[in-house]
Amino acid sequence: MRKEFFIIGTGLFILSLAAHFLFKTSLLIAISIFILLIIGIFNSMQHKHSILRNFPVLGYFRYMFEEIAPEIQQYFIERTTDGKPFSRNERSLVYRRAKNISDTTPFGTQLDINTSSYEGLKHSIFPAKVNHELPRVSIGGADCTQPYSASLFNISAMSFGSLSENAIIALNKGAQKGNFYHNTGEGGLTQYHLQGGDVTWQIGTGYFGCRNDEGNFDDERFAEKANHPFVKMIEIKLSQGAKPGHGGVLPAAKNTDEIAKIRGVKPHTEILSPPCHTAFDSPKGLIEFVARLRNLSNGKPIGFKLCIGQTSEFEAICQEMMEQNCYPDFITVDGAEGGTGAAPLEFSDGVGMPLEPALIFVNKTLIRLNIRDKIRIICSGKIISGHAILKAIALGADLCNSARGFMFSLGCIQALRCNTNKCPVGIATQDRMLEKGLVIEDKFERVYHFHKNTLHAANELLAAAGKTNYTEVDVSLFMRGNEFTHLSDLYFPDNLSNVTKH
Ligand SMILES: Cc1cc2nc3c(=O)[nH]c(=O)nc-3n(C[C@H](O)[C@H](O)[C@H](O)COP(=O)(O)O)c2cc1C
Repeated sequence: MRKEFFIIGTGLFILSLAAHFLFKTSLLIAISIFILLIIGIFNSMQHKHSILRNFPVLGYFRYMFEEIAPEIQQYFIERTTDGKPFSRNERSLVYRRAKNISDTTPFGTQLDINTSSYEGLKHSIFPAKVNHELPRVSIGGADCTQPYSASLFNISAMSFGSLSENAIIALNKGAQKGNFYHNTGEGGLTQYHLQGGDVTWQIGTGYFGCRNDEGNFDDERFAEKANHPFVKMIEIKLSQGAKPGHGGVLPAAKNTDEIAKIRGVKPHTEILSPPCHTAFDSPKGLIEFVARLRNLSNGKPIGFKLCIGQTSEFEAICQEMMEQNCYPDFITVDGAEGGTGAAPLEFSDGVGMPLEPALIFVNKTLIRLNIRDKIRIICSGKIISGHAILKAIALGADLCNSARGFMFSLGCIQALRCNTNKCPVGIATQDRMLEKGLVIEDKFERVYHFHKNTLHAANELLAAAGKTNYTEVDVSLFMRGNEFTHLSDLYFPDNLSNVTKH
């Protein structure tokens, strides 16, 4: 192709020059062709990009189309039911609820409900009255002296750094207005998280905000922040579903001077939080750490977040709780389908247990060990609707978190650019120009409405099932497609005999 390019290019250049002198056509045409020729010569000589060596000018189209592939996919190819990770229908549900406009859909379901992937709630012939109060759950076991009354639906961990300043402020203000909590993510507690909303402060392996000069956990620095009145709970991050066993990743482009200062790291470099903690390295150490944080925070609820991998390790942690007679106030179970700002594909696509089996496993394990009443189970993993909330409760959760749901409420268009600093709607970026697109005063209202309308939808479903309290919800309320299989039968059938009889 190089030969053709030079023959055609030189020919066109000579022709355009001749046309200029003979017919007085614009000299610009000849100049443009000349510039393209020079670029072509340069590209054909460089060694880095094969496509440009072989197609010195046309090759650029490949890069251009590759750049806009997600948009082409979303605007021209994607159907309403098949966008990934969230379909257009799912996204618009959140948008409508966030905008507080009608969330009804016309003409009936677009899903193929005669397949085993369909999950239907078994409604009652005698529905209950819909409760208009939004449900809450108290968190705090015997050793907790500052229990927290949490909403059933909250904002999952997303750091300042991963998200922009405006996004964090809008989330926090929305949480304040709606009386639900906002998890800081592992990037630390910042002034943007302290707008008045309830906060769950997450401590990751980087100990951002509570680390000493060597990067290890620092009691004093932790205690100072943990006792802030807006901090209602503290969560130790062991792992997250999108990259269990990997540790956090903050791309260099998003590591601004301000973020580097907050985290105590070098700016404009990629920040990889280590996969494991330095404060503990065993179930015993973890439970001792829980006790230490509870003590330092003067009795606030302490929990840990994890994606389930090797089940025996989780069982060992539970055994250790019993041994030490020290229980976390909550355990957050994140499904492998969870989201992230940046992760290696191998980890996102191929590590960890999805939420459904993980929730059933954790719930059943705590029940089997007779410690279920001491610990609340929080869960996250694509929970963006009332139906998903009810199903999570049925599988064993006490309350739910959502990360990407709340991103959609802020206006996320699923552009899949969180790891590039080029988020077009100013949410997952540190680019000041892009961030300006996100107007806090408008978006915090959307966060508030999304939460309220989603929980109201959950209340309506609860009533449709003839129930008045979320504690009455169990797996027997759900069926799958044309199989009429109890959801719970699909996983761990041997220890579920008591719930499969309904
Ligand atoms: C942009 C982004 C940043 C995240 N940052 C964190 C984090 O700092 N710590 C953490 O534990 N999880 C983090 N997560 C995972 C979420 O908290 C949540 O567990 C996961 O996305 C599943 O919830 P979802 O399906 O509602 O998004 C992040 C997710 C996203 C999308």
